[in-house]
Amino acid sequence: MTLRLVTDKTAASPTLPRFPSVVALIEQIRPVLPFYALHPARFRAAADRFLNEFPGTPMYAVKANPSLPVVDQIYEAGIRHFDTASLAEIELIQGRFSDATCHFMAPVRLPGAAAKAAQEYGIKDFVVDSDQELDKLLREAGGKGLRIFVRIATPLGGAILELSSKFGTKPDHGAKLLRRVVEAGATPALTFHVGSQCLSPFTYAQAVEMARRAAVAADVQIAALDVGGGFPSNYPGNDVPPHHWYFDTIRESLSTFPLMPGGELLCEPGRALCAEGSTLITRVILNKGEALFLNDGSYGNMDELCQPGWTAEYVRKVYWLDANGRAHERTGAPRPFRIYGPTCDTVDVLPKPMMLPGDIQFDDFIVFENAGAYTAACRTQFNGLFSDDWAIIE
Ligand SMILES: Cc1ncc(COP(=O)(O)O)c(C=O)c1O
Repeated sequence: MTLRLVTDKTAASPTLPRFPSVVALIEQIRPVLPFYALHPARFRAAADRFLNEFPGTPMYAVKANPSLPVVDQIYEAGIRHFDTASLAEIELIQGRFSDATCHFMAPVRLPGAAAKAAQEYGIKDFVVDSDQELDKLLREAGGKGLRIFVRIATPLGGAILELSSKFGTKPDHGAKLLRRVVEAGATPALTFHVGSQCLSPFTYAQAVEMARRAAVAADVQIAALDVGGGFPSNYPGNDVPPHHWYFDTIRESLSTFPLMPGGELLCEPGRALCAEGSTLITRVILNKGEALFLNDGSYGNMDELCQPGWTAEYVRKVYWLDANGRAHERTGAPRPFRIYGPTCDTVDVLPKPMMLPGDIQFDDFIVFENAGAYTAACRTQFNGLFSDDWAIIE
């Protein structure tokens, strides 16, 4: 997948077109390419949950949606800390928000990235889960003045997309890394990621326990614990507990965690801060009976719907335009459709059929709610198709 960061700093959200509703947008614009409609109030509600109820500092994981209109919404909603996974993301955030703090929380970095991040951008927080990456980090950025988080692998828990088979280490090796961090003159800290769209708050308690074992075995003062992302969005098809259950579980499990006095608790949600604020408007470009071809697909905004094991869906509504250009919702009895994307690739098809109103037609608009996470972030320019059209819904 090609991550395209739009770094035009002049393309600020205040210049985006504004509409009273998604229906009004469809009537006036009749989008040909997939179109993103942003709801500032929903971004604020998501940020408020973390700023007011999470018992520590929330960072926004930029990778979930690095589009400028979205990071603007996140910033305007009050988030000032950003989990940046690359120099491009650091440049994007620091170039845009002078009072934002970036944290380089990717456990593997490109050669030279840590050096530039530390020396040119003043980044202090880094993550490692291996001796080799720690060697590389110390060689490039030294140890003094850095806070180095050791990432612990978590047990397979309630996450729809697990992240611990690729990243994280066992507590005993984590302990060795922590001691090396201290020997290098850096500040030791711990982190984990329970996996994305985690449906079980208890998974965080298990993960804190793994981190606790590493801290105890290392016998060093732990200056910070970052409990990662993974907080779910409320998609149909998933049984999603409220976020405060997660925060309460994390708060309780901290009572056993040896965080030094004055130590910091952080989290780095991506999905939970950006999903619900975005509506994705797509269009049916061809209708072959049970097969619908959309202007969007796996090379566009539907990468996540193609992930193995992905069980969630988006809330969706279908609209058609009458001869006067007025939009009406389709209300036919739902039936399953095979959804193809617009590119020439045979694999550009959703793995599961989608239930849609049976009277859906060519040229209708399918509107997906809660569609801000890992949609625009994963779109490509394959076949010359790339959408970058945005509006604000007031
Ligand atoms: C290191 C790290 N932090 C944060 C996130 C954000 O996760 P989520 O969107 O599930 O909250 C990810 C997602 O892959 C990640 O890899």
